Amino acid sequence: LLPDCLILSDALNHNSMIEGVRAAGCARQIWRHNDVEHLEKLLSRAAPARPKLIVFESVYSMDGDVAPLEAICDLAERYGAMTYLDEVHAVGMYGPRGGGIAEQDGVMARIDVIEGTLAKAFGTLGGYIAGHSSIVDAVRSHAPGFIFTTALPPAVAAAAAASIAHLKTSGTERAGQRAAVAATKAALREAGLPLLATDTHIVPVMVGDPELCKQASDLLLEEHGIYIQPINYPTVARGTERLRITPTPAHDLRLISELVDAMVAVWRELDLPLGKNDLRPVEPRAQTVAAGG
Ligand SMILES: Cc1ncc(COP(=O)(O)O)c(C=O)c1O
Repeated sequence: LLPDCLILSDALNHNSMIEGVRAAGCARQIWRHNDVEHLEKLLSRAAPARPKLIVFESVYSMDGDVAPLEAICDLAERYGAMTYLDEVHAVGMYGPRGGGIAEQDGVMARIDVIEGTLAKAFGTLGGYIAGHSSIVDAVRSHAPGFIFTTALPPAVAAAAAASIAHLKTSGTERAGQRAAVAATKAALREAGLPLLATDTHIVPVMVGDPELCKQASDLLLEEHGIYIQPINYPTVARGTERLRITPTPAHDLRLISELVDAMVAVWRELDLPLGKNDLRPVEPRAQTVAAGG
């Protein structure tokens, strides 16, 4: 719909966005993950009158890091670009009304399109985009993925609406999650489990080997009744395989302590190293950049 549009996509964008970018058939350039200097370089090289769309996430689901939204909005305004923000891992959980990181950072009005899910924090199914009515109308009228599929069943839509209405006014669940996340991180750290340092509810525990990662997940389920998915290549770069924990407000101290005991037992059984934590994401991540290209 935007002739000659240039899409500028963060290197670690989720596959659903990559597929969307591909389907758009526009020229695209990949900017290094969360690197606003690189983004600016690409923006400054494009002709000023050319339509541009910056595509990125707020909370990245694998490393649990957060995009510098304000700096990206500044660049978008300076170079006349539109912004498309995936807040799937943030809606319901961040911001005073659960609007996401854009609400928390006070930049919602500066983002052209915000994408959210009704699954994850809202606990149902489906998703949405929010933006100016003309943009939403354009997507409604032209997006095959929206047009050629069945609408949400009324019961699911009602459940989603109730969940959103609740989380708009109740901060109890957000505070409960923050407390559970802090307690989980502290307990994992205390036990010497190799967690990646994050500022969010996403708590990656690094394994660094695909077979061991799958075995750790299997042992947790079979011997301890705890299900945590193994995350291997191509979702993350080779050598950074991990278990990813996302505590909820319903995880209390007893459950957290059981989790940590179980993980220590599995780590010992698999002869995985204990004692190193607060790790940083591994750079460069050329493999995921290529997969996300
Ligand atoms: C960043 C991101 N965007 C979009 C989606 C898709 O959301 P949904 O599963 O609700 O379709 C996911 C995963 O589910 C995701 O992790």
